[in-house]
Amino acid sequence: MVSLQVTLLAALLLGGHGARAAQEPLSFHVAHIFSFANQSWAQHQGSGWLGDMQTHGWDSKSETIIFLRSWSKGNFSNEELIDLELLFRVYFIGLTRETEEYADQLHLTYPMEIQVAAGCELHSSDIAKGFLQAAYQGSDFLSFQNMSWVPSLESDSRAQSACDLMNQYEAIRETVHSLTTNTCPRFALGLFDAGKVDLQKQVRPVAWLSSGPSPGPGRLLLVCHVSGFYPKPVWVTWMRGEQEQPGTRRGDVLPHADGTWYLRVTLDVVAQEAAGLSCRVRHSSLGGRDMVLHWGHHLSMYLILLAAIVPLILLTVTALWFKKRCSYQDIP
Ligand SMILES: *[C@@H]1O[C@H](CO)[C@@H](O)[C@H](O)[C@H]1NC(C)=O
Ligand SMILES: *[C@@H]1O[C@H](CO)[C@@H](O)[C@H](O)[C@H]1NC(C)=O
Ligand SMILES: *[C@@H]1O[C@H](CO)[C@@H](O)[C@H](O)[C@H]1NC(C)=O
Repeated sequence: MVSLQVTLLAALLLGGHGARAAQEPLSFHVAHIFSFANQSWAQHQGSGWLGDMQTHGWDSKSETIIFLRSWSKGNFSNEELIDLELLFRVYFIGLTRETEEYADQLHLTYPMEIQVAAGCELHSSDIAKGFLQAAYQGSDFLSFQNMSWVPSLESDSRAQSACDLMNQYEAIRETVHSLTTNTCPRFALGLFDAGKVDLQKQVRPVAWLSSGPSPGPGRLLLVCHVSGFYPKPVWVTWMRGEQEQPGTRRGDVLPHADGTWYLRVTLDVVAQEAAGLSCRVRHSSLGGRDMVLHWGHHLSMYLILLAAIVPLILLTVTALWFKKRCSYQDIP
């Protein structure tokens, strides 16, 4: 059943485009950011993610989980969720205090940012992989491997010292292990089941063209905007006829607040060569029919406006004419 769900998830998250994407496993993770301005000022943020969809937030005032979707509790009971909430509360306070206490000894410097990502990936019915990674000042710092803390390859002796320190606490290691390899896969599967309707939704993109800031004399930056689509995987490229343009530059796929996505794809061209170029959009919501936007045609926005205004004018004129005729007829 698990493997069926994983395959299903792969199929629907990817919309059947691209082999790379098809291997994407079902995953759930929590992301935490700890910011320390100085010895006496710290704050933390938390969120929970099923694949690339945010399902949970953390209210750091009341120290409680925010359930962002109607199905964000998955199949866990309220009791189990309250236990988890308590655990996260202790962890947020604990990690903040310990970091402040050991900052000097570990030569960590303020202002300081610590990011933690922890969760699980489900590859098939019996392979669930738990993970926990931490970054310091935006770079990989340490991770949890095989029941112990291990410094990242690119980190320095500070990470080794932090691991030595943390490895002394066996109870914490056991808790992390159990959370990532037992609680997380159970929760992820239940959540995936509960959220199917949202996860399987297909939202068509809206696309439009514009020109960006000129990259140089006689050159144009063609911009293709693709907005409001779901799921995330999308293929967008600049084409001349059937030929993909190698200079196409793809931006990051950015989130909208409503859970849909936005992508910007640009092409830097000699102004005279812009004619005949088109932006092609392929997405699972389009049912195999690509969207094609031709450069130059977007300039005909005025024509579209005209097309909307002309009937309006005609209508007004006709109305006036009728009114006039009626009043003529009124005259005996
Ligand atoms: C610590 O940082 C906070 C937030 O930036 C600031 O308001 C506060 O004055 C700082 N305190 C000290 C002791 O530097
Ligand atoms: C994990 O740790 C155990 C004992 O600490 C060891 O026997 C085992 O080989 C380790 N496995 C891996 C993959 O490192
Ligand atoms: C939730 O669903 C998962 C997967 O179907 C299952 O393994 C688990 O036992 C269920 N219940 C709880 C409370 O985890």
